[in-house]
Amino acid sequence: GKVNKHVWDVRYNYVSPDCYKKLAITINGLVPGPTIHAVEGETVVVQVTNSLVTENVAIHWHGIRQIGTPWSDGTESVTQCAIQPGDTFVYQFVVDKAGTYMYHAHYGMQLGDGIYGMIRVKAAHKEPFSYSSEHEILLSDWYHKNAYEHAIDLSSEPFVWVGEPNSVLIQGRAFACNEPGTEAGQCKEPNRKCSPFSLNVRPGRTIRLRIGSLTALSTLSFEIEDHEMTVVEADGNYVEPFKVKHLYLYSGETYSVLIKTSPKKDRSRNYWMVAKVVSRESSTPSGLAILNYNFNPPLALPPTDPPVGPHWNDTSDRIDQSVAVKAHHAYLNPPPKKSDRTIILLNTQNKIDGKVRWSLNNVSLNLPHTPYLIALKENLSYVLDHKMPPDSYDVENYDIHSVPKNTEAHPSTGGLYRLKFNSIVDVILQNANTMTPNVSETHPWHLHGHDFWVLGYGRGKFNMATDTASYNLGNPIMKNSVPLHPYGWTALRFRADNPGVWAFHCHIEFHFFLGMAVVFEEGIDQVGELPDSIMGCGETKPFVKP
Ligand code: C2O
Ligand code: CU
Repeated sequence: GKVNKHVWDVRYNYVSPDCYKKLAITINGLVPGPTIHAVEGETVVVQVTNSLVTENVAIHWHGIRQIGTPWSDGTESVTQCAIQPGDTFVYQFVVDKAGTYMYHAHYGMQLGDGIYGMIRVKAAHKEPFSYSSEHEILLSDWYHKNAYEHAIDLSSEPFVWVGEPNSVLIQGRAFACNEPGTEAGQCKEPNRKCSPFSLNVRPGRTIRLRIGSLTALSTLSFEIEDHEMTVVEADGNYVEPFKVKHLYLYSGETYSVLIKTSPKKDRSRNYWMVAKVVSRESSTPSGLAILNYNFNPPLALPPTDPPVGPHWNDTSDRIDQSVAVKAHHAYLNPPPKKSDRTIILLNTQNKIDGKVRWSLNNVSLNLPHTPYLIALKENLSYVLDHKMPPDSYDVENYDIHSVPKNTEAHPSTGGLYRLKFNSIVDVILQNANTMTPNVSETHPWHLHGHDFWVLGYGRGKFNMATDTASYNLGNPIMKNSVPLHPYGWTALRFRADNPGVWAFHCHIEFHFFLGMAVVFEEGIDQVGELPDSIMGCGETKPFVKP
């Protein structure tokens, strides 16, 4: 295929998306970074220069499976050594499937400092819907504190929780008035320095919006005043169309929706777009942006109050949407009827040496100094943890509805699940109560290197005998990111057919940082020769040729 080349400079820049000046990590000076526009089948080449001076970086291509190029996945410590200041690294991979994808830093908690963007892969074939124009909308949450401060807070004792974000950004913009403290609804003039994102549309058209969320913490509800959305794509897979008033997005998810702009009545006004924090009781003001009908001034505020959105605690409405996302009937790719292995992962909040951590089956992951891919391929496996993490937890006796009696977990540096190549693997994510009574959080899980079938969601404790019978084996959607709802379970199935080493983790930056991740290896013997450019850290030094 064609080569689609990009040259990026990763550097610090002051940005003020919500009128607060923050030192952000930018790509070519931008937050969000440039959208990659590609066509299915093309080879994307991104030459990344790290100009951060005192900080490493690595960039992950979220949703791109990296078939044959596991070293380009950009997951520091899993697939490569981080890119050091002053160095240039070239990512090269094929975008083999049309859809909406994203990229973001995968080093420490840098994502929260603004280093992210979208990847639009256009179809080379006919799609099951049509539209006259398409636009990207990337949602994120925004902290005035930076990743370093967060890292120190989260590793301190007593534990300092980072708290709720200061703002929600829509396409890298928040909304603030000239006069501080003015509610957006009462605001007459947006502040020019931090004006809202404005999306220009023509009346009487069908428009495709490619919406993605790369929040560090928040689950969002996205809504456009007076415009219903028809969901047609999820994580690069066609969806049997259904309508929503608000669209819930968990960090790591992308959706395409179609909206119809009104043919006439709306020529006189603009409309609000709102991104509201849900699933946590948050003090963060909703992100506001403007749907700008042609012939109106782009920043003219709608005459109405922004929609208030769903209640933050309406879990059943969110589960309903999760369940409603099914594969399009003309693009069915049903899963194998049975799996070869089932891994149940109990999600818990724990303590290790008095510090707060997150664990799976009581194991909390620390990333190894030598990246997994190199350690396994070059037989340096002594740098990894040889104790395999467990495939289940004490299902009989564990009470998912109460604070655990024993909160102590085990740290593991370089633990991994080794999967039989080409086998069918089920993963059951099981939620539980945190260390706070009556609290169970939402965890957005993301798998690298694969799309998985979403077999089902349920409430309470997963029951192997009865719940497997309820699996949707007929038209499950394939995704790469999926929510685990409070006190519930989520069941996934995938084929371990992509040679490499792949992270599977909670996409909340702070949870991932605190150990909420596992790593899968499959077909390591079939991985091609590793490029020298991924080496240089830990025990990989001798492998760098002079
Ligand atoms: Cu978008 Cu491992 O992450
Ligand atoms: Cu989480």
